[in-house]
Amino acid sequence: MLKVALIGSTGAVGQEFVVALDKHPWFELKFLASSQRSAGKKYIDAIRDPNSGVLRWHNREQVPEYIKDEIVSSVEDLKPKDFDLIFTALESSDAQIIEPKLANTTPVISTAAAFRYQEDVPILIPGINDDHIELLNEQRKKRDWAGFVCPLPNCTTTGLAISLKPILDNFGIDSIFMTSMQAISGAGRSPGVAALDIIDNVIPFIPKEEEKVQVETKKILGSFVDNSIQPSKFKVSCTCTRVPVMDGHTETVFVETQKPVEPEDVKNTMVRFSDNVKLSGLPSSPKQYIIVHDDPTRPQPRIDREINDGMTTCVGRLRKDTVFENGIKYVLLSHNEKMGSAKGAVLLAELLKSKNVI
Ligand SMILES: NC(=O)c1ccc[n+]([C@@H]2O[C@H](COP(=O)([O-])OP(=O)(O)OC[C@H]3O[C@@H](n4cnc5c(N)ncnc54)[C@H](OP(=O)(O)O)[C@@H]3O)[C@@H](O)[C@H]2O)c1
Repeated sequence: MLKVALIGSTGAVGQEFVVALDKHPWFELKFLASSQRSAGKKYIDAIRDPNSGVLRWHNREQVPEYIKDEIVSSVEDLKPKDFDLIFTALESSDAQIIEPKLANTTPVISTAAAFRYQEDVPILIPGINDDHIELLNEQRKKRDWAGFVCPLPNCTTTGLAISLKPILDNFGIDSIFMTSMQAISGAGRSPGVAALDIIDNVIPFIPKEEEKVQVETKKILGSFVDNSIQPSKFKVSCTCTRVPVMDGHTETVFVETQKPVEPEDVKNTMVRFSDNVKLSGLPSSPKQYIIVHDDPTRPQPRIDREINDGMTTCVGRLRKDTVFENGIKYVLLSHNEKMGSAKGAVLLAELLKSKNVI
């Protein structure tokens, strides 16, 4: 068993991490940390709202028994070299300061954006750009770290990059237009989105989100040449919105391909990709990586987000686009806190362990 620590354990993503690590066959969660607000409290008390006493737990399952009475520490109490792996679920400003100190001795898998755009840092999605893993060794050498910082993408990028990969490989891509309808939980808990602002409403702006998705998609789907990532040349344009959905980001995607393309070909390509993705044997790997629905009323967050415990990218409404000479369009759904963050991070850790990088 690898000895694991979790920083940011009480937040929206942190709560999903404790579920994803419950009875994990390879990783044993031995240390929980959060801010000074939570330090010294039992986990179950740390996730109570200090003003109302309400349990701030939004997972539909119960708080796992193994974690309820564990004491939350502060980061200052963590001795990183005592751990094989550290997961972080921190805001970027905190991650910027905390993660390098941890990476000095120990591999860090991060859900924050702090290091995503640096040259020696890959943004990894298991099964999509595994060849970029090699860059972690470069990072170690360059920074003289025994560990590394390995970030996941923004949760809105994840489903988009996964659905585009088979299209890019088979038909080429010139441009992408995407509009997202993102869940409330994607905004986290501190401060999160106020109920009065989101109920009966759509918020047409999420700070920095569009820029993140545009840069990350090109980096993730870029090629790894001479120990560096050459971003893909296609153009990406996004509009990111927040909608009153609890979990699961829905995205409408328009793709201008380089070769002529029919919806049926894209479906077959996505299904073939999903069947052949090389993640078998990893405990958190989903039974299906991508599902393509024929039913025009799918995917829907309430119906589809928990398929394969939130680890499947669901695609539907695949049809030809008539504005582009070669174009297709579709709707996708990806769980922002499962594949898009906590459980996706655990899957990434499993992949890195299977490749002896951890
Ligand atoms: N929510 C999503 O769907 C999602 C998806 C992908 C990526 N992300 C990214 O994941 C990160 C975490 O997001 P979140 O939604 O979980 O945020 P969140 O709900 O606001 O949680 C933040 C966590 O960080 C802890 N924290 C704050 N300051 C700290 C410090 N100085 N030292 C240690 N811990 C500290 C908080 O502890 P207290 O409870 O004690 O305050 C809390 O546990 C962000 O970078 C976000 O962009 C989020």
